[in-house]
Amino acid sequence: MIKIALLGYGTIGSGVAEVLKVNKDSIAKKAGQELALKYVLDLRDFPGDPIQEKIVHDYEVIVNDPEISVVVEAMGGEEPAYTFVKRALLAGKSVATSNKALVARYGPELIRIAQERNINFLFETSVGGGIPIIRTLNTCLTADVIEKVTGILNGTTNYMLTRMTEEDAEFDDVLKEAQAMGYAEADPTADVEGYDACRKIAILTSLVSGQQVDFEEIETQGITDIEALDIQYAKAMKRVIKLLADSRRTEEGYCALVAPVMISKKHPLYNVNDVYNAIFVHGNMLGDAMFYGSGAGKLPTASAVVADIVDIVKHSHCNIKTFWSPEKLPLADYRKARRRFFLRTSDPEAAIEAAFGAVEYVRLPGVSGEVGVLTEQMSELEYEKRAAGLTGIRKMIRVE
Ligand code: HSE
Repeated sequence: MIKIALLGYGTIGSGVAEVLKVNKDSIAKKAGQELALKYVLDLRDFPGDPIQEKIVHDYEVIVNDPEISVVVEAMGGEEPAYTFVKRALLAGKSVATSNKALVARYGPELIRIAQERNINFLFETSVGGGIPIIRTLNTCLTADVIEKVTGILNGTTNYMLTRMTEEDAEFDDVLKEAQAMGYAEADPTADVEGYDACRKIAILTSLVSGQQVDFEEIETQGITDIEALDIQYAKAMKRVIKLLADSRRTEEGYCALVAPVMISKKHPLYNVNDVYNAIFVHGNMLGDAMFYGSGAGKLPTASAVVADIVDIVKHSHCNIKTFWSPEKLPLADYRKARRRFFLRTSDPEAAIEAAFGAVEYVRLPGVSGEVGVLTEQMSELEYEKRAAGLTGIRKMIRVE
């Protein structure tokens, strides 16, 4: 029997306990032995809940218990998660985590400790919730050089943008709904400002390149500036606005960007709605592949965490090698990527055409004092140079 300790009894942690309980028998068959939750570390008590008998408030109880061979970290945030996970690994206990902040910053170090001790550090749910994308990159797509990864990697913002598009709902109302459904981070700023998606694309780019991507170097824009009017313009152009996390291999190296993008029906991510996430991957041999599923939420995420535990049990005394060195990956300038640009501007047509040449105009009934403009394809460096010739730009949104 494998004895497990769970760190954190929030949305994901309580989901892990539920999955282990509800699917106990089938999980035991797949793991080859029974999995038993021995401790749950949380600052809180849960009187009246059967979990209370497993609650401990002192991490020392867990790290010093030789019976515990697997630690599940579901606390979120960098500290004390980092200290607890590192100590667990150093004590010879394998770890499964859903914590993207932890993995994005400390991934290579924790992977190395696990390798040195012949145990495992698995983090499938740090990207894409219930979608198996880490394991896919690490074991299934190893014959390819991955040239492009574009994802909808944040369930909260995708849920919000979908509701704002389909029901003309207000930003604050839909954020509250996403929080109530357990999709959002404890501080939803990480979702709406794009920081969560940024850490996730940093993790994917690190796995694809085999080197450490500094997420702080990734240009990141969230959805807080997206107004109802922007969505109306997108609809008028038969497009939707999605928060895309993009990483591509150029001649100068990998470049990455997180930003709202207007995409058309032809785009593979156009129909990814609500809390669903999807990751589109292009490999130099594989061509295109897409991975789709529940990107956030208690049980989909917990299911994938428990799958990591099963993998750990199946690989006792055998490290599953992960290709991610601590060597820093210098990122190329994302502004060299070519795309079209949408702007809302009060500049006259003559000035717009002097700056951008041939453009398409988008006019909304009842909207005066500005016009929507869709440029031809160009690099962002070129867009910036040309846009400097205008004085009335209110908004720019990238278009694909
Ligand atoms: N807040 C995250 C999201 C949770 O909305 O996608 C899953 O990482």
